[in-house]
Amino acid sequence: MTRKVSTRHLAVELTAITDAAALASFRWLGKGRKKMGDGAAVDAMRKGFMHMDIDGLVVIGEGEKDEAPMLYNGERVGNGNGPQVDVAVDPVEGTRLLALGKPNSIAVVALAPRGSMFNPGPAFYMNKLVVPAQARGKVNIHDPVARTLSTVAQCLNKSVEELTVFVLDKERHTKLINDIRDVGARIQLHTDGDVAGALMAVMPGTGVDVMMGTGGTPEGVLAAAAVRVLGGEMQGLLDPQSDAEERAVREAGFDLARVLRTEDLVASNDILFAATGITDGVFLAGVTPTPSGIKTSSMVMTGASGTVRRIESVYTPLRHSQLEVQAFA
Ligand code: FBP
Repeated sequence: MTRKVSTRHLAVELTAITDAAALASFRWLGKGRKKMGDGAAVDAMRKGFMHMDIDGLVVIGEGEKDEAPMLYNGERVGNGNGPQVDVAVDPVEGTRLLALGKPNSIAVVALAPRGSMFNPGPAFYMNKLVVPAQARGKVNIHDPVARTLSTVAQCLNKSVEELTVFVLDKERHTKLINDIRDVGARIQLHTDGDVAGALMAVMPGTGVDVMMGTGGTPEGVLAAAAVRVLGGEMQGLLDPQSDAEERAVREAGFDLARVLRTEDLVASNDILFAATGITDGVFLAGVTPTPSGIKTSSMVMTGASGTVRRIESVYTPLRHSQLEVQAFA
């Protein structure tokens, strides 16, 4: 019998894991050492998985085994007593944001049944379009920017001038930025963090209506898990940024013209997606020291029931020397 992934029990366990990663990496906030912050979060997250009732296979991890000693692609996680799942992790999404003390850095994990997550292989970069539920089924990433924004505006009952588009502030986006400005829409430029950008595009009240542009493929799969639960739509085109990447992607048999839809990126509704804020963001507050303890702010989405839970936790000082251990107590 296949066992359900998106249960309340596993949802709560998953937020303990993202909390632990956020607490561990927070020590490196603003210290300019992105590898240290990431390493601390990876370590905490991996310890958390040891307690979790899943038989997990990391599909989206920290990279290949040679470069990533922990949470590498292909690593087995969990205690084995639970459903067989694909696991996508980003212990610090926005390592530079954390190192520079900037907003929108989050700790993220998604789970879905084994075999349901898109495995990006050597594809590092993906061109992404993310739209909210009202525009689902109405857009095509191959369309010109003007047509897409006009469609989204219609679906949201707004003028194109009132739309705000999240775009990563990268040289490769010069044309995209010009095309968006030509039709009069607003742009929010962010140096990093397009998982948060995708969430902003599908969650009401964030001030962002659409996300466009090229970012990491692993981040695309993670974001697709949340987009699917929230009823929005994501489309992706693999978009290699070097000749070597393009060669590797083609040799691995990927088709660069194929539109990867939300359902191709995560082929099941039985999804769990959890995120904890590390630095402050629009939809999640960052880790905050208070007189009564260290506060975390998390959200967990349960695909089968379409539930989004928000959880605030206070880790009171200091029964344990390592706060992140408390997250699993
Ligand atoms: P990291 O947390 O791994 O540093 O990724 C941050 C990020 O901005 C992602 O949100 C985005 O998908 C990717 O990097 C874009 O990559 P690049 O900075 O190489 O354009």
